[in-house]
Amino acid sequence: MDFPYSRLRRWPDVEADNLQAYDATDLLLVERGLASGVAGNEIAVIGDEYGAITLALAAAGLDGVRVHQDLATGRRALARNADELGLSGFSSHELDATLLDGARLVLLQLPKALAELEEITDAVARWSASDVVLVAGGRVKHMTIAQNEVIGRGFAEVQAQRAERKSRLVIASEPRPVPAHPPFPVVAKHDGLTLVAHGGAFAGAKLDIGTRVLLEVLGLDGSRLSIDAPDPTGSAPETADPADPSCVVNGDESSPATTVVDLGCGTGALAASYALAHPEARVIATDRSAAAVASARATVAANGVGDRVAVMHDDAGSALADASVDVVLLNPPFHLGSSVHTGAATRLFEAAARILRPGGELFTVFNSSLGYRAELTRLVGATEQLERTPKFTVTRSIRR
Ligand SMILES: C[S@@+](CC[C@H](N)C(=O)[O-])C[C@H]1O[C@@H](n2cnc3c(N)ncnc32)[C@H](O)[C@@H]1O
Repeated sequence: MDFPYSRLRRWPDVEADNLQAYDATDLLLVERGLASGVAGNEIAVIGDEYGAITLALAAAGLDGVRVHQDLATGRRALARNADELGLSGFSSHELDATLLDGARLVLLQLPKALAELEEITDAVARWSASDVVLVAGGRVKHMTIAQNEVIGRGFAEVQAQRAERKSRLVIASEPRPVPAHPPFPVVAKHDGLTLVAHGGAFAGAKLDIGTRVLLEVLGLDGSRLSIDAPDPTGSAPETADPADPSCVVNGDESSPATTVVDLGCGTGALAASYALAHPEARVIATDRSAAAVASARATVAANGVGDRVAVMHDDAGSALADASVDVVLLNPPFHLGSSVHTGAATRLFEAAARILRPGGELFTVFNSSLGYRAELTRLVGATEQLERTPKFTVTRSIRR
């Protein structure tokens, strides 16, 4: 039976004419899985973006396939596509022993980051059956020799296949003995802030330079914040002066607890810094990546603020009520997969507008070349520039 790939949707991820819910690599991985003769309950799928691999295997009658997807959006898309096609018989897992225990075939859509590949390779070698075969695929234009080297650290046999339909598979077998401790998460200290990162988290355990600029503007880079509550009328000052205390986040300890959201939190640098500077605040860190969420949880714990920061795996803060938040901190993504696409940032601007109360503040840092100010004004409210370095711009938007 031919699987109806074209019926798959990316929703709730960004949808556009040039963005598909499956690619030729998915097709090659499915063909390989079906030809392997391995039973469904001995197959694990990793990085199945919108469910194409898992659902094509389920549709072919393989029962008990296990799948790990990093993104909350991918998990929702898989569930919805499964409903739409009336398919079941698979289970979803984190990147852990429950995903891989006894697995003899692992089908992997290669991640972009080598650190993420390193963590996955270690997990497969650590937890799968001793005769496991790892089949890793990607688009030829995005594949590098370094990926084979990373896989080679976990497997004695690594063979790249001939490219087909502009995709290529790399087949690895004979897992090597693993070190006593997994290579991730990694930990780094930065001026009073400890960051913990799993392989798939943005910037690893480094403090991103854009994040650093935002922390400096907000006075959260180690120095104590002291500032006024947001103006409840929602009116923005005509001009912005970062030296003016009203230009920084609400942190007045006499005001009722401020609810602050680190939207797209990554390793949780913004959330942890805010919580350290504001013991009275209610802080929520949320990201659509499971690797980010696990990292942020470990980061807030490492900084002693784990009991004051709630970390949520969610798409664009969808679990947060409308108009329920005083402050949003945002360092938005500007890459979508491998294509540069600003839809992902727009989605978070819209989310910030939805969850902020009128008069609430959105602080955003972005690459100066992106010029988001007009869009922020349109979607959120009056937007002023607080800082502009040659590379980064920091703005404050007041929710109208
Ligand atoms: C540029 S990184 C910033 C990470 C962190 N806030 C920092 O400053 O280091 C953007 C983050 O947004 C997350 N993200 C992208 N789209 C998202 C969405 N729809 N919902 C939640 N998080 C999202 C990404 O997973 C990534 O961790």
